[in-house]
Amino acid sequence: QQARIEFDPRFTVAEVPDRLYGSFVEHLGRCVYTGIYEPDHPTANEDGLRGDVLDLVRELGPTMIRYPGGNFVSSFRWEDSVGPKEDRPRRLDYSWGVTETNQFGLSEFMKFCRATGVEPNMAVNLGTRGLQEALDLIEYANHPSGTAWSDLRRSHGDEEPFGIKLWCLGNEMDGPWEVGQMTATEYGRIADQTARAMRKMDRDLDLVACGSSWHGMPTFGAWESEVLANCYGSVDFISAHAYYHPGDGDVPSFMASAQDMERYIDDVIATADAVGAKLKTDKKINIAFDEWNVWYQDEWETTEHAQWVEAPRQLEDRYSAMDAVVFGSLMITLLRRCDRVTAACLAQLVNVIGPIMTEPGGPAWRQTTFYPFAEASEFGRGKVLRVNADSPIFTTGKYGDVASLHSVAVAGEDGSVTVFAVNRDLETPLSLTLDAGTASVGSVTCSTLTDEDPHAKNTLEDQNRVVPVENKSIAVADGQITIELPAMSWNTIRIT
Ligand code: AHR
Repeated sequence: QQARIEFDPRFTVAEVPDRLYGSFVEHLGRCVYTGIYEPDHPTANEDGLRGDVLDLVRELGPTMIRYPGGNFVSSFRWEDSVGPKEDRPRRLDYSWGVTETNQFGLSEFMKFCRATGVEPNMAVNLGTRGLQEALDLIEYANHPSGTAWSDLRRSHGDEEPFGIKLWCLGNEMDGPWEVGQMTATEYGRIADQTARAMRKMDRDLDLVACGSSWHGMPTFGAWESEVLANCYGSVDFISAHAYYHPGDGDVPSFMASAQDMERYIDDVIATADAVGAKLKTDKKINIAFDEWNVWYQDEWETTEHAQWVEAPRQLEDRYSAMDAVVFGSLMITLLRRCDRVTAACLAQLVNVIGPIMTEPGGPAWRQTTFYPFAEASEFGRGKVLRVNADSPIFTTGKYGDVASLHSVAVAGEDGSVTVFAVNRDLETPLSLTLDAGTASVGSVTCSTLTDEDPHAKNTLEDQNRVVPVENKSIAVADGQITIELPAMSWNTIRIT
């Protein structure tokens, strides 16, 4: 089957925001303990951070990391996680049914951010705590010196303030599972009060209010509308969270998960802009898509709930080649809509629905989803271009007829153009023609991730079963490029 796309570096959608390539570290399962932090590991550095994981995180290329939750944050006392490790209390974590040792905390997180060159994105607890504790935390983190909290930080060995600019005001406060769930009115007011008070310390903070926990929440839309009616003037972002899996066995709909993500983004923007219109303001609230991924949630609910143990194996999804293609399609959606989705976090980073897996005392390796993220973060920098596409369709139960080809083009500052393209059809290859307009077409390369077995995975025993390989089908003639995209494939096409 034939597909075609046209673009031109002169016609742009938006600059790719740096924060689009965020990720997420939650105190959950083995994301922190035996994930990024394992002092006894042979590769650990002097801060207890695993060197093999640091290397993989740098290769993955996240730009920003959200911390410490997630559901975890809603019963977290940040003071437990600072100061001498031997004095830090052990606590029950009510979100995930485990014991938290607090051996990794704010200072260790900042060391991790510095070691990987990422921006910290810190969440405050608005579940069991509130305004005062949020102010204490920001004073501890960001005030230079001369006050009780800032001098406490200095006495803990962190002389320089952390300078955290991006903050989440709670997490999923609409969810019945969340410790301290609130109504939209209650949350909108506390978010507004917290945001306004935090800005008294630093008016240039970037603040994220909680949107709905997912597009299918019964209160979706009404929640965003009421929350923003209360805090539109004091926040910058509204959050969105989305996880996809073929829960009902409907694989074609799973392949087309990005349809839901696009619609979700449209709906949040429409709702936020409607609140702005009523308030007669020019200010726009953008989306922080601060949790997104493939997540086989049913499997976790039935098999993995823990009972007050330390760092058990929770949510350790093993991703297949098919999952990586869906994941890539979600990444393409975020890029296509980066005019209004100006921050996003792949949830999560290590072990817990992560692109990186580890064994305690053993190796670390890349899941299939590692590759679309790493390639997008490396090459998806610059300006997103307007793309006209013509594609065959496939039929899905949830979204009707959907284009097999899903793509985005990004023009780099160096004159290159990178096209990320997935073929979402599980059976039929696509012959793709690209018309690159006025772009100069010197060399063209393509790397392709696919597998004859859609369920093939990278495992401890076989860590490189699914990796991108060079696509040798490229032909260039009269300024037109053609490439064969295998069925169910993720492709990174570089025009330089
Ligand atoms: O990422 C896993 C969990 O999913 C987060 O803790 C929560 O915010 C969401 O429900």
